[in-house]
Amino acid sequence: MSVWQTAIEDALQKTRRNIGKFGDQFPHVSTDGGRSYELNANEDWTDGFWSGMLWLCYEHSGDDAFRQAAARTVESFRERYEADRVLDHHDIGFLYSLSAKAQWIIEKDEAARQLALRAADKLMARWREPGQYFQAWGPAGDSVNGGRIIIDCMMNLPLLYWAFEQTGDERYRQAAVLHADKSRRYLVRGDDSSYHTFHFDQKNGEPIGGDTAQGYTNGSTWTRGQAWGVYGFALSYRYTEDRLYLETSKRLARFFLSHLPEDEVAYWDFNAPIEAGTPRDSSASAIFCAGLLELLDLMDESDPERAYFERRIRLAMESLVLNYSTINEPNVEGLIKRGSYHVRGGSSPDDFMIWGDYYYLEALLRLEKGIKGYWYEDR
Ligand code: GLY
Repeated sequence: MSVWQTAIEDALQKTRRNIGKFGDQFPHVSTDGGRSYELNANEDWTDGFWSGMLWLCYEHSGDDAFRQAAARTVESFRERYEADRVLDHHDIGFLYSLSAKAQWIIEKDEAARQLALRAADKLMARWREPGQYFQAWGPAGDSVNGGRIIIDCMMNLPLLYWAFEQTGDERYRQAAVLHADKSRRYLVRGDDSSYHTFHFDQKNGEPIGGDTAQGYTNGSTWTRGQAWGVYGFALSYRYTEDRLYLETSKRLARFFLSHLPEDEVAYWDFNAPIEAGTPRDSSASAIFCAGLLELLDLMDESDPERAYFERRIRLAMESLVLNYSTINEPNVEGLIKRGSYHVRGGSSPDDFMIWGDYYYLEALLRLEKGIKGYWYEDR
């Protein structure tokens, strides 16, 4: 068995057991240094990742136990939509791409498609016309967040590109493209690093400046944000075929790779001082690996950078499996250790992150089987 196959088998076995442990709850992060997940009743931004893991496990194994559990999460997302519970943020893209849209992609379930389209409409309600961007957090007009875009949002745009494909309604695509352009211009810096967030004047859309919410300091490069950018710009290229997005994803990827430590797994911020105990963020590396695999899928066959990217992905994934995974810890719930949620905020600095587990599994299945997650329909 290859190292990828061993890791996938371990993921399947843990996910199967977690279905029974979690019941109707959704895992978020661990708070005990990486033993067990904190659960919630489908009211966090991260809950789609559990749904996505179940769909991935089902696609890989064909085991109906995964399908049934995944379909139950979609019902939970329907109930959440109807109750309008904690949906006043941009992460609707994560939530409904990996749950309802995934079910549509796998099973062509019309009710799931309709739910994902309604979720796309809800995301459109975050569009702020004066500045022409999607507001990530908080209510419209909020004094801190009303004029703020964040790089993570690049991964929420695929729900809108997909909604355009499904309906032909240009509004979805136009808004996604305008937001991606604004993110490219203001969040990506000249040296290929990135701001986590950027502020605009809410009344006239004039740029104000970049800062961070979860990174080390305002001018630093938060590793998870950089990884969201690598994957998100690659997906904008897949949907639009605008080569500027492909170039942007490559630039962000080069920066990420040239700032990794020896074991190929990122610390939590590229500017954080490295000393004993500096937290890693294995989830940033998992997102990055899945995103770089997407980028490779899109790059020209003759691109001279292919071999370099391929080699570095293998090294990073091997390090995640051999040094960070829980393959040798059968009784824990998570798949990869040493993720960091919000180091400066003191939240889960050395723990399981459900999105880390999701992207780790997605990357393994891309490597082993060509299963690519649920950001787009096969093309
Ligand atoms: N999108 C929120 C985070 O990465 O923590």
